[in-house]
Amino acid sequence: MPSALPAGEAVPADGALPEHALSELGRRPFGFYVHVPYCATRCGYCDFNTYTATELRSSGTVASQDTYADNLVAEIRHARRVLGDAELPVETVFLGGGTPTLLPAADLVRMLAAIRDEFGLADGAEVTTEANPESVDPAYLAQLREGGFNRLSFGMQSARPHVLELLDRRHTPGRPEACVAEARAAGFEHVNLDLIYGTPGESDDDWRASLEAALGAEPDHVSAYALIVEEGTKLSARIRRGEIPMTDDDVHADRYLVAEELLGAAGLNWYEVSNWATAPEARCRHNELYWTGADWWGAGPGAHSHVGGVRWWNVKHPAAYAQALAESRTPAQGRERLADEDRRVERILLELRLSEGCPLDLLHEAGRKSADRALADGLLAAEPYAAGRAVLTLRGRLLADAVVRDLVD
Ligand SMILES: C[S@@+](CC[C@H](N)C(=O)[O-])C[C@H]1O[C@@H](n2cnc3c(N)ncnc32)[C@H](O)[C@@H]1O
Ligand code: SF4
Repeated sequence: MPSALPAGEAVPADGALPEHALSELGRRPFGFYVHVPYCATRCGYCDFNTYTATELRSSGTVASQDTYADNLVAEIRHARRVLGDAELPVETVFLGGGTPTLLPAADLVRMLAAIRDEFGLADGAEVTTEANPESVDPAYLAQLREGGFNRLSFGMQSARPHVLELLDRRHTPGRPEACVAEARAAGFEHVNLDLIYGTPGESDDDWRASLEAALGAEPDHVSAYALIVEEGTKLSARIRRGEIPMTDDDVHADRYLVAEELLGAAGLNWYEVSNWATAPEARCRHNELYWTGADWWGAGPGAHSHVGGVRWWNVKHPAAYAQALAESRTPAQGRERLADEDRRVERILLELRLSEGCPLDLLHEAGRKSADRALADGLLAAEPYAAGRAVLTLRGRLLADAVVRDLVD
């Protein structure tokens, strides 16, 4: 949940959605995202909408973590009123942050219970929470499992102390791998580790060691992200001052190839440019719901939602969020209606990053010509192309952003 919010049209105080959006409900899978905007400390690279206790104090606001679950439950009830009483079993729930596991496990379980009470969970629903490795222990994980969570996503980032230090991570090397073992012992079937590559000062060997350490823990899912230097972060200030070098695209490409090699050899296959899983059942269904343009309600400060071609986003600050709910107003700050062309472009942007690719008939004439060139350049795979789909090759994945840019024309 990046921190910048787009401008958009106003949302009515009761949050009511246009009839055309509601009429599409139930046609696509429905999921719930819950944002928890608190972190113990801020990592230098991160511009997610999250606040440390010090940041909250210095902005002079009272936005207590203790009452956060109450606010969230209020928004879940509000969601039910806005969406009406149509049958809408929730296929996926994802608690992200921030650091959801900074809250007591009972709070996370209570938020999930509210979703279950208001909407019902579909059979076999995927219920994930993100977790920082230093913020959980076996008892905490057991409580989550008992409360209905069945998937965990740990922010590992690296196995090397100097890389963790540059990223301002608080956990020690080895802790994320121990978390995977603790998660398995608590009965979690699905466990993801997030990794970051291309951190200044990280060598090829460091990256290989991080991948090997992650794989040694046997997660069934790995997300590997190139380090993005976000404007306004401590990392970008340090780079601007010349204290550390800028990240390098060629290094990122090399590291991606190493990731593909080691993850592939360990039986994890890519299914989205930055995501690998041991089997189709191990994929993150919640993220698949985003990538395939399904419907979801995003609860919490700054969270985005999408229902039937209407996208809206909540006020960013936890205090403004709490106040809106206390006054029985929608916490939504703005919204936009996606035109057919927006939806077409969005489908290409998202689906082209998937191993299933996107249908060629989504492309306009100029995009189709670019796709022919990308095929000739070895960026799109020949067999799916012949069958009417644009699927990135490994080389295409390295240049995914550029390929996508050309195809949306
Ligand atoms: C919502 S974030 C954080 C979850 C959790 N608080 C943690 O840090 O473990 C999810 C993931 O996004 C990735 N991420 C965040 N900022 C990034 C950046 N600037 N560049 C690359 N990856 C980033 C990290 O891998 C992180 O684990
Ligand atoms: S702990 Fe996670 S969400 Fe919080 S600042 Fe660090 S990366 Fe961002």
